[in-house]
Amino acid sequence: MSLSRRALLGAGLAVAACDHSAGAQSLASVLSPLKSLAPFPIGTCVQASQLGDPAWVNLALAQCNQLTPEWEMKMEYIVQSDGSFRFDRPDQIAGFARSRGLRLYGTTLVWYSQRPEGFVNLDENRVAFGRAYDNYITAVVGRYRGAVGWDVVNEAVAEDGEGLRDSLWSQKLGAVDHIRRAFDVARAADPQAILFLNDYNLEYLPKKLATFERLVEQLLKAGTPIGGIGTQTHLAVDLAPGAVGPSLAALARFGLPIHMSELDVSLTRGERQMPTRAQGLAAQARVYEEVAGAFAALPPQQRFALTLWGLRDKDSWLVGRDPADAPAAFDDASRPKAAAVSLANGLA
Ligand code: XIL
Repeated sequence: MSLSRRALLGAGLAVAACDHSAGAQSLASVLSPLKSLAPFPIGTCVQASQLGDPAWVNLALAQCNQLTPEWEMKMEYIVQSDGSFRFDRPDQIAGFARSRGLRLYGTTLVWYSQRPEGFVNLDENRVAFGRAYDNYITAVVGRYRGAVGWDVVNEAVAEDGEGLRDSLWSQKLGAVDHIRRAFDVARAADPQAILFLNDYNLEYLPKKLATFERLVEQLLKAGTPIGGIGTQTHLAVDLAPGAVGPSLAALARFGLPIHMSELDVSLTRGERQMPTRAQGLAAQARVYEEVAGAFAALPPQQRFALTLWGLRDKDSWLVGRDPADAPAAFDDASRPKAAAVSLANGLA
């Protein structure tokens, strides 16, 4: 493991950091904060409960300058079964971001995978459904006005790239129309916020990427106020070297800001497992470095932010699914893993 000079707090520390016996703890003391290395915002997802965890707060404030609520600004939290809204936890997160001077990024207004009962149980009247849809977007975006941006529609494209996903929203309001409508309503609710179309697996699935690009084209042509493109970047350690740059370049050709919106690198979700954990962690570090380097190479005005989907391994949604996974850049004790060092090198 080696650190570039820029990734170090001071060049005088280079010797200590390049000493292969230096443990993760001493790395923590020499690694420059990610947010100070990157000429663009570094984000993390956050849950309200983490605001009461001093270790998480210290790490997040040291490394990051942008927050995305991991799930408590989504329908799954806000919309209750009777259709009413609750905002206590998203308010806590927004308040924390404001008081600590971090940017707030909202996710996600419309997502095929979330179909709260409150919406499902609405009567079949398209007009009433449309009004409820608009009302939700207006209420949430309006309440958090001042957020730098929003994932307005998440994961609109089918995995096989054969068109758009079928969802409650597309069934009731039309495949493309529900997307346009969400952007228009969000725009009216907060004209300053940058509105994103966000999707994933764009590094892995060329056909999905092509369909995503066509959708962006179609929406822009129709005058939809898309202001940015989000690529989640949930990756695995066996990602083919060189895969990130071309997919980013394809997304960047629209000239819009790009948000690497949910970066993590799974040890266990790839098709190929690394023979040992040490090899897995080394491969993980390689992927983090490639991603950071590819993002840093975008034209400056297109680098909206790079967001980590979980700072410490134990924060990651993937560890909940597979306890053997460790997809984050920091370990459970907030110490930088090789992944964090590589990320820092890639950013620097
Ligand atoms: C996940 C969160 O990590 C979970 O806590 C939540 O319950 C469900 O969503 N793609 C996305 C994210 O766009 O919103 C997902 O986040 C991870 C996959």
